[in-house]
Amino acid sequence: MRNLLVTENITKKFGGLVAVNKVSIEVKEQTFTMLIGPNGCGKTTLINCCTGILKPTEGRVLFGDTDITGWPTHKIYEVGFVRSFQIPLPFLGLTVLDNVLGAMRNSGEAPLKAPFRRLWVQEEENNMEKAMEILRRVRLDNHWDKPSHTLGAAQLKMLEVAKGLASGARLIALDEPIGGVDPASADEILTHVAELKKEGLTFLVVEHRIDIAAPYADYIYAMDLGRLISQGTPSEVLNDPKVIEVYLGKGVEAC
Ligand SMILES: Nc1ncnc2c1ncn2[C@@H]1O[C@H](COP(=O)(O)OP(=O)(O)OP(=O)(O)O)[C@@H](O)[C@H]1O
Ligand SMILES: [Mg+2]
Repeated sequence: MRNLLVTENITKKFGGLVAVNKVSIEVKEQTFTMLIGPNGCGKTTLINCCTGILKPTEGRVLFGDTDITGWPTHKIYEVGFVRSFQIPLPFLGLTVLDNVLGAMRNSGEAPLKAPFRRLWVQEEENNMEKAMEILRRVRLDNHWDKPSHTLGAAQLKMLEVAKGLASGARLIALDEPIGGVDPASADEILTHVAELKKEGLTFLVVEHRIDIAAPYADYIYAMDLGRLISQGTPSEVLNDPKVIEVYLGKGVEAC
C-alpha cells in the first residue's frame, strides 16, 4: 500500500520546550493509523505541524509525492488533507446541512456575471444533493435542518467527519474523535469511520481511549515526551514494555 502521509524527522520547539522531537511516521493509504501517548506528549502538535496550523521547526511533511512542509492550511485542504479539532468547532448557529455545505469546494462566480450566467444555481443544487448524501453516510440526515448546537457530543464528532468528507479530503486527521462520548456512541463513531475507510478514505486518529479505539486501528504509533517510542500493529504496540511503562499506574486499558 502507498504512503499517503509521511513525516520525516519533524521537530517542533516552543522556546526551550521540544514538543515534538524528530518524529517520522508513515500513514498508508486506506488505513486507520492511530497516534497514542500520555497528555502533553506532542500528538496534537504533530498533527498541527502536518496540517499547517503550525510550522515545524525542522523536518518535512509529504502528502503523496508533494512536499507540503509549512504550507498554509487552505492549501493543504486543497490537496485533500483536513483535520478535526479536539473540541469540535462547527458554526453553532448554522444548521447541520449548512455546516456541511460550508466545507464544500465552490468554484464561485463573479458577482456581476452571476445574475445572468446562473451557473451557480446548478452547482448549489449539486452541492445540496452531495451534502445530503454525506449526511446519510454519517447518519445525520434526519438532523439536517437542526442548528448544530442542538447536536449531542457524538453527533458533533460525526459532523466534523462529514465536513471532512464534504471537503473532498482523502486523508482526515481526527483529534480525539471519541473524547467525551459514551462507550456505545464511541463504538458507533468508530464503526462509521471504519466504513468510510472501506470506501477508500484514510484516517490518522489521535485517541486516549485506547481500549475502545485500538481494535479499529491497522497501525499504531506511540509517543512520549515528544518522541516516538513504539510502532506496529495494535497488539505489538500495546504489549511493548516501553508503552506499558509510560502508562504504568494508569494501566493501558484506562488511558
Ligand atoms: N502553542 C503552544 N505554545 C507553547 N507550548 C505548547 C503549545 N502547544 C502545545 N504546547 C506544549 O507542547 C507540549 C505538547 O502538547 P500537545 O498539545 O501536542 O500534547 P498532546 O499529546 O496533544 O496532549 P493531550 O493528550 O493532552 O491533548 C505540551 O507540553 C504543551 O504544553
Ligand atoms: Mg492533544
